[in-house]
Amino acid sequence: GRVGVLYGGSSAEREVSLMSGEGVCAALREEGVDAHLFDTGERSLADLAAAGFDRVFIALHGRYGEDGTLQGALELLRIPYTGSGPLASCLAMDKIATKRLWLQLGLPTPRFAELACDADPADLAGTLGLPLIIKPPHEGSTLGLTRVESAGQLREAQALACRFDDLALAEQFIRGRELTVPVLGAGAAARALPVIEIIAPQGNYDYEHKYVSNDTRYECPARLPDELTRHVQDLAVQAYRALGCEGWGRADVMLDEQARPWLLEMNTSPGMTSHSLVPMGARAAGMSYGRLCVEILSTARC
Ligand code: DAL
Ligand code: MG
Repeated sequence: GRVGVLYGGSSAEREVSLMSGEGVCAALREEGVDAHLFDTGERSLADLAAAGFDRVFIALHGRYGEDGTLQGALELLRIPYTGSGPLASCLAMDKIATKRLWLQLGLPTPRFAELACDADPADLAGTLGLPLIIKPPHEGSTLGLTRVESAGQLREAQALACRFDDLALAEQFIRGRELTVPVLGAGAAARALPVIEIIAPQGNYDYEHKYVSNDTRYECPARLPDELTRHVQDLAVQAYRALGCEGWGRADVMLDEQARPWLLEMNTSPGMTSHSLVPMGARAAGMSYGRLCVEILSTARC
């Protein structure tokens, strides 16, 4: 039947989603799927209901695409969709709720504090140490994120995060190696793909280094001892299951200087551009970009 690739949207990550959606749609077509692009930023829910899609592949990032709202609408429209359901999507989009849940289950995530947009951030350097991270809790692609090196930068970092959100998240900075782990499937069948290490110049894996420049290096599979690889993969799967994620996702992890992993966040609709991380992990597991798209599509439900 007809498959809609939902892309674009109206979040701050619209440009990324345009690239993800175009990649997914072209790959699905090459695999023989009757796929059609549908931009949720330009067209209405009524158009979506009328488009005659038997199922949809969600290639949207951020608000109104990855955050559970669209998933809820698709449930109401009874259109099967890829990825997590409304609750897991909503939880994962909220980095504070995610961290509270992981902590409750004993999963390691860096220490943090909620920072109201009108609060005085001066004490944070004392409680979380420096450097620390300030970011909007409901954003992706490192938008609005600052690595604060000195107390004098706190106000500006808070103001930047608050341009994207009505609250900021302050988090202990974990010095070490940056890893990410794609996860496919649901429940007991959820499984991790090979771990990827991101090696960005000066450790700045920001928006520019994710999507624009070409000076970020990736190691996939990451060069880690086998036992540590299994530990990191297992942690990613636990983190995914804890949130109730389904279909696919990607856990972002820091490995500290003692080789201890710390969970940063879960992405329930991760980037699918040609040089995105989930396709990289899939390729290392012997799965082409096209087969990956077909596999994710095959998990669509509502
Ligand atoms: N938020 C971006 C798209 C990612 O996680 O890949
Ligand atoms: Mg993210």
